[in-house]
Amino acid sequence: MKYIMYSLLIYSLYAQEYNVDIAPIIYENCISCHREGQIGSFLQLTNYDEVFNNRYWIAYAIAGDEESRHGNPIMPPWPADRSYSTLLDEMYLTEDQIHTFLDWVDSGAMQGDPEDEYPIPDFTAGSTIGEPDIVIQMQESYFISGNYEDDYRCFILETNIADAIDLAAMEFIPGNLEAVHHAIIVAVPSGSADALDEADPDYGYECFGDFGTSNISDFLGGYAPGTIARKWPQGLAQQMPANSDLIVQVHYAPLMTDQTDQSSVNIFINDEQVDRYIQENLMINSQFALPPDEITSVTTTWQITQDISLIQFLPHSHLLGKSWEIFAITPQQTDTIPIIRINDWDFDWQFFYSPEYMIHLPLGTVVSATCTYDNTSDNPDNPNDPPQWTFWGDGTNDEMFFVPFRYVNYEAGDENIYLGNTNLLLGDINYDGLLNILDVVALVNCVLDNNCSELNYSSVADINGDNAYNVLDIVALVNIILS
Ligand code: HEC
Repeated sequence: MKYIMYSLLIYSLYAQEYNVDIAPIIYENCISCHREGQIGSFLQLTNYDEVFNNRYWIAYAIAGDEESRHGNPIMPPWPADRSYSTLLDEMYLTEDQIHTFLDWVDSGAMQGDPEDEYPIPDFTAGSTIGEPDIVIQMQESYFISGNYEDDYRCFILETNIADAIDLAAMEFIPGNLEAVHHAIIVAVPSGSADALDEADPDYGYECFGDFGTSNISDFLGGYAPGTIARKWPQGLAQQMPANSDLIVQVHYAPLMTDQTDQSSVNIFINDEQVDRYIQENLMINSQFALPPDEITSVTTTWQITQDISLIQFLPHSHLLGKSWEIFAITPQQTDTIPIIRINDWDFDWQFFYSPEYMIHLPLGTVVSATCTYDNTSDNPDNPNDPPQWTFWGDGTNDEMFFVPFRYVNYEAGDENIYLGNTNLLLGDINYDGLLNILDVVALVNCVLDNNCSELNYSSVADINGDNAYNVLDIVALVNIILS
């Protein structure tokens, strides 16, 4: 059995066919969004005909070398520069996958034998990290007009919880996956934002870059298409203050049809011993002035006053933002630690980024963040035509320089604490929670292409634990599955 599979797969390298070569690339990397009811449903890629009919568009999006909107290439959307730093849950196609697709298009885009068709993965609905302790849903459903415009809206969710809570995770579950582009959650003292909602005739209130109120907690959770929630590593927790309301800020993407959304928040309580609380430092610069018709760089530094371990960061600017670079210089100045670089900033694709392992920033380190703003008419996103002087503010036409960093006080060994979800199944190469032939196919492919180490969670591919990825791992995985 294993030999038959193996030779089939080797053969497949030489004949590009949709069912064998292309479907796995598209189904594993694109249809989490490009299928019915999801944010990318305008372009569904769930079978041969759909992919064939859009093959040139896809080729442009995955291989186009034009300066693009969500990083280079355009799809899958991952604005962070992977050559600069390695972050968790990166979305990308490998060079080999891109070339396989282009070769397939060039060689006639054949479908191949229907018997070989690579199956569509199962997608789980609801939480990706287990059974929540508390679920709070938006009280009403919100109406989103099909006017093809962005809609930025804040909703107040009452918790009715009198005590402070140690959070293991806070997860946002979109009620309408096609409409919700982003969400971010903070807590405010109960009732303190109600006037904002009451002043707006519809459910919730309009908010673009912030929450319309200043008395907010740390960021407690967020959502962007394609991201999965994560629990904090053992011993760590974030705290939700006593007597809080939550405010969820939602960005609804432009829609062609009227729709509604009633999203909810899953709260996971940490009831184990908490050794360290997650803290937040906001790097903010509100003193800049961006002259019209100019490109301006703004740099801000953060002096580290005790040893800390960095866990997460979210660079944030508005529509003039062009690029970001954040790095740290250790006190001896011997070491520059690259944290994140975004070459094509895109307001539509903002993520809470995490390194794979905590980053130790010793006392005396200086973190430097630079955002470059393009306030010329060459910037297609410039909200002003002609360009205008632009300053800090909440509005679509204002700008921001804002980076929340999450960290804990440093403890020896933090550098080895993996920040991703560790409850992954050994051998579950496609992370679908099952061990089956699909994993063998994925493993064989990465062994043959010699790029298993580029998998998001490469440890799942090292079946025999020898720190190498080779035919022994394939044999071991086949044996696990057959037994
Ligand atoms: C995380 C969700 C997500 C994933 C994963 C994703 N897309 Fe997209 N894609 C979108 C959204 C949303 C848009 C439209 C808005 C935009 O461009 O930001 C889009 C736009 C596109 C476009 C049109 C681009 C243009 O500018 O004309 C193509 C083609 C495309 N995607 C193909 C792909 C392919 C192929 C993959 C997999 C390799 C992929 N996408 C992965 C969400 C996603």
